Amino acid sequence: MPGKVLVTREIPEAGLRVLKEAGFDVTVLSEAPPARDGLLEAARGAKGVLSTVTETVDGEFMDVAGGGLKVVANMAVGYDNVDVGAAQERGVVVTNTPGVLDETTADVAFMLLLAAARRLGEAERTLRAGRWEWWGPKLFMGPDVWGKRIGIVGLGRIGQAVARRARGFGMEIYYHNRSRKEEAERELGARWMELDELLETVDFVSVHTPLTEETRHLIGAEELGKMKPRAVLVNTSRGPVVDEAALAEALEAGSIFAAGLDVYEEEPKVHPKLLERENVVLAPHIGSGSIETRDRMAVLAAENIRAVLRGEPPKNPVEQ
Ligand code: DGY
Repeated sequence: MPGKVLVTREIPEAGLRVLKEAGFDVTVLSEAPPARDGLLEAARGAKGVLSTVTETVDGEFMDVAGGGLKVVANMAVGYDNVDVGAAQERGVVVTNTPGVLDETTADVAFMLLLAAARRLGEAERTLRAGRWEWWGPKLFMGPDVWGKRIGIVGLGRIGQAVARRARGFGMEIYYHNRSRKEEAERELGARWMELDELLETVDFVSVHTPLTEETRHLIGAEELGKMKPRAVLVNTSRGPVVDEAALAEALEAGSIFAAGLDVYEEEPKVHPKLLERENVVLAPHIGSGSIETRDRMAVLAAENIRAVLRGEPPKNPVEQ
């Protein structure tokens, strides 16, 4: 059974250990995202691939890997970088890593929400530049978070973890989701709303939808225009869910107060107008990046590969 497993990036040792102990011939490609040519070359003959969000795993990749390829385990909950349809056509199982990163990612969403509202980025930059001269009665004022209204767009596992944090801050919770989440409504006191109404109602919007053709630019100029002038937008899902150019304009015009972003339309590029703005906190896609969670993600992805290559059902298969 053992054969070649390609791990496209350097991952925590705990994940590699699972693969090595199962006897696979493990190739770890690189610390940085591999160039396409090198990635394809390394894929030849692989039975299993452990990929990350920076690799495009499409039909071409699978064809180069060859007919022996059985599984692509993406070390992420999102899998928009993998062509699941192409995998299904070729009989390749695709898996992801849900459930192990919800709380950690929710921490970062809430961190961005607090930092954007209370102007932490701007305040710290001022201090570090030696430009902080005195305590000021009007210095770096921003809206309160506690007791306000939060709107969660996409009340999946991560969205619900954000809602739990919001409850701790005494916030009223609203959400928009394709389907109603009645259990979450009962547990969290969350109220469902149409997206437009939610945007008009809440003070904080936190986005948690996967990237699909329907959610691309779900938050664009029109939606931003519906938000309150003191509203804060947070995105820790996928960059293209928010129209970055429209967001930069809204922040410049002051039609919303601030934003906190962990994801971008063309990572690692960030829209130049966002980089110029003080009222946006920018993190480099670190949502799931705690030590413990990255270990759990690596182990889960490795276990999914091991299961498929042993002919067992993987824990986290995904379908188109
Ligand atoms: C995910 O899991 O989808 C993240 O974006 C990668 O940490």
